[in-house]
Amino acid sequence: MKKNIILIGFMGVGKGTTARAYAEKYKCFNIDTDDLIESKTNQKVKTIFEEKGEKYFRSLEQECADWIESSVNNSLISCGGGFYKVDNLKKLGTVVLLDASYEWIYKRLSTAENAKSKLKKRPLFSEPEKAKKLYVEREKAYKKLADVVINVEKNSIKGIIKEIHKSLIV
Ligand code: S3P
Repeated sequence: MKKNIILIGFMGVGKGTTARAYAEKYKCFNIDTDDLIESKTNQKVKTIFEEKGEKYFRSLEQECADWIESSVNNSLISCGGGFYKVDNLKKLGTVVLLDASYEWIYKRLSTAENAKSKLKKRPLFSEPEKAKKLYVEREKAYKKLADVVINVEKNSIKGIIKEIHKSLIV
């Protein structure tokens, strides 16, 4: 069994922030699937969606998952919100879901200091109504795949990373 932590959850729930804090505190490498895809293609996620479409982006996520399965261990992997659809997710490590209500996520994104850029780089968040629909569609699937569910709404980053760490030891 691989010893990776696979951080999943909806866009804007705070996977990147959590992953960076975790890596710093517990001294491990942290890789982000969107970053891997951008570095492999030399294109921004937004551009890939615009020029090649979502289906192509999903195939890149699958390639990424295959590479993680064959080559990555003892690391934290923060995943794009749709990465859970890859067919080998459970083989990549312990799946940890960061969970929050859609309203909380929307507020977090839209009131962030750099809200404009946070929303702009996420093509599937361009229309809040559509994003909400996507959230409802995915909610159950995320929970079904998760080995550990952490509600982040009333939790600090410090508390969240502690909970992740504890859940791996037990
Ligand atoms: C997506 C989430 C994004 C990114 C892409 C598609 C999704 O990542 O992979 O825009 O389908 O939910 P974040 O969850 O980091 O925003």
